[in-house]
Amino acid sequence: MRKVRKAVIPAAGFGTRFLPATKAMPKEMLPIIDKPMIHYAVEEAVKAGIRDIIFSTGRGKRSLEDYFDHSYELEDQLKKTGKKDLLKEIEDISDMAEIVYIRQKHALGLGHAILRAKDVIGDEPFAVILPDMLVDSDVPYMKQVIEAYEETNRSVLGVKETTPDKVSLYGIADPAESADTFKLKGVVEKPAPEDAPSNLYIFGRYVFTPELFDYLEKTKPTLGGEIMLTDAISDLIKSEGVYGKILEGTDFDTGDKLGYLQAMAWYGLKHNDLSEEFSKYLKEINQ
Ligand code: G1P
Repeated sequence: MRKVRKAVIPAAGFGTRFLPATKAMPKEMLPIIDKPMIHYAVEEAVKAGIRDIIFSTGRGKRSLEDYFDHSYELEDQLKKTGKKDLLKEIEDISDMAEIVYIRQKHALGLGHAILRAKDVIGDEPFAVILPDMLVDSDVPYMKQVIEAYEETNRSVLGVKETTPDKVSLYGIADPAESADTFKLKGVVEKPAPEDAPSNLYIFGRYVFTPELFDYLEKTKPTLGGEIMLTDAISDLIKSEGVYGKILEGTDFDTGDKLGYLQAMAWYGLKHNDLSEEFSKYLKEINQ
């Protein structure tokens, strides 16, 4: 059994759903209270035992590099003004993980963003974390998926239940059996409700065997030129088999404005310094 040591975090998207906020800043840097969304994704990877992270980025994403680097002027200022707790928090961010940055160069879809990481991953299983999907759970979702990989020794897709009105927003699993960890018959990307094979959507936490790269390389681009991850997963299902794993916890699709607001409210109500007053305020405006 080869251990999962590396994770790819695709972060090259334009963030069109958050324009104009994302015109001059990466969507991954949008904050949930006081931490950018990308912070949560890296934290989840680290909690799942991963140390090496590969960001597949593009133009306009340099602030991601700055965020995970030391900021000498800021650290010096915090030292001088005796803000020890804040200094530690800021320094810890730079020491969270080893991060490698790869430029996607062309925005050719999720499959292409992952394929760009092939040489850095090499011949070993790896995780993929989509940073739009935010998780608050006792056991990190990424860890739940890695554990299912360790049980099955196959690629695993983390899935969650959804409602028929939302199946057309996601990849949908076609399970071959009814279980928490189940073998997949297929996957369908963004089907119409009547064509959805189940109500289980692919959440954005994956472990792949390196064989995925062979299929990504063979995947024909769509009319728009995109290399679809789901197409390569379909090939992997046919060749060596792929499992789905039902995830347990609370999560938010922060790629969506409502999901982003919900995440902000959730973390606001959990925040040590804010929760009491924020909860009072929410009740006040809801009368
Ligand atoms: C991608 C995947 C889809 C998955 C989703 C999760 O879609 O293609 O299968 O369900 O992420 O967020 P996207 O959101 O990039 O359109």
